[in-house]
Amino acid sequence: MQTTVLILHNILRWAVLLFGLLTVLNSFTGLIKKRPFTASDNKSNLFFMISCDIQLLIGLILYFSNGWFDKLKNFAQYKAIPVERFFAMEHMSMMLLAWILVHVGRVAVKRAGTDAAKHKKMLLFFGIAFILIIASIPWPFRQVLGEHPWFRWF
Ligand code: HEM
Repeated sequence: MQTTVLILHNILRWAVLLFGLLTVLNSFTGLIKKRPFTASDNKSNLFFMISCDIQLLIGLILYFSNGWFDKLKNFAQYKAIPVERFFAMEHMSMMLLAWILVHVGRVAVKRAGTDAAKHKKMLLFFGIAFILIIASIPWPFRQVLGEHPWFRWF
C-alpha cells in the first residue's frame, strides 16, 4: 500500500508538470499574440488544478503515514538533516503554496474582465506555481535528498 502511494505520487508528478507547462505556454502565447481566451486555455489550467489536487491528496497520505508530521512536531531536532528538513517542511510547504496559487489563480482568471487580463492572470498565478513546483521536486540529481528516481513502477 505504502509503495503504491509513493509510485502514484512519483508518476502523477509528470501529469502536474505537463499540464503546468501547457498552461504557462498557452498564457504566454495568448498574451503576446493577443488571441482570445479559449476553451483550451481554460481546460489546460483546469487539468493543471485537478492534477495538483490529486497530488496534494496523495502527498498528504505520504506525509502523515511516513512519519514526516511527527518530524515537523520535533523540528528543532531534525532541521539540520537535509532530507528530514526537506520532506517535513520545505517540500510540503512549497507545494501547498503552489496549490493555493493554482486555486486563487483559477478564480482570478474567471473574474478577469478581458481576454488579455485572463491571459495575464493565468501567466502570473500559474507561472509562479509552476516554478515553485519545479524547484520543490526531489529530483534524482539532488542526491542529498535520498533516492527519488525519475520513474517508479509497480
Ligand atoms: C504538485 C505537487 C507535488 C509534486 C509534483 C510532488 C512530487 C514529489 C516527488 C517526485 C516525490 C518523490 C517520489 C519518489 O521518491 O519516487 C515526492 C515525495 C514526497 N512528497 Fe510530494 N509532491 C507534491 C506535493 C506534495 C505535498 C503537498 C505533500 C505533503 C503534504 C507531499 C509529500 C511528499 C512526501 C512525504 C514525499 C516523500 C515520501 C517518502 O519517501 O516518505 N508532496 N513528491
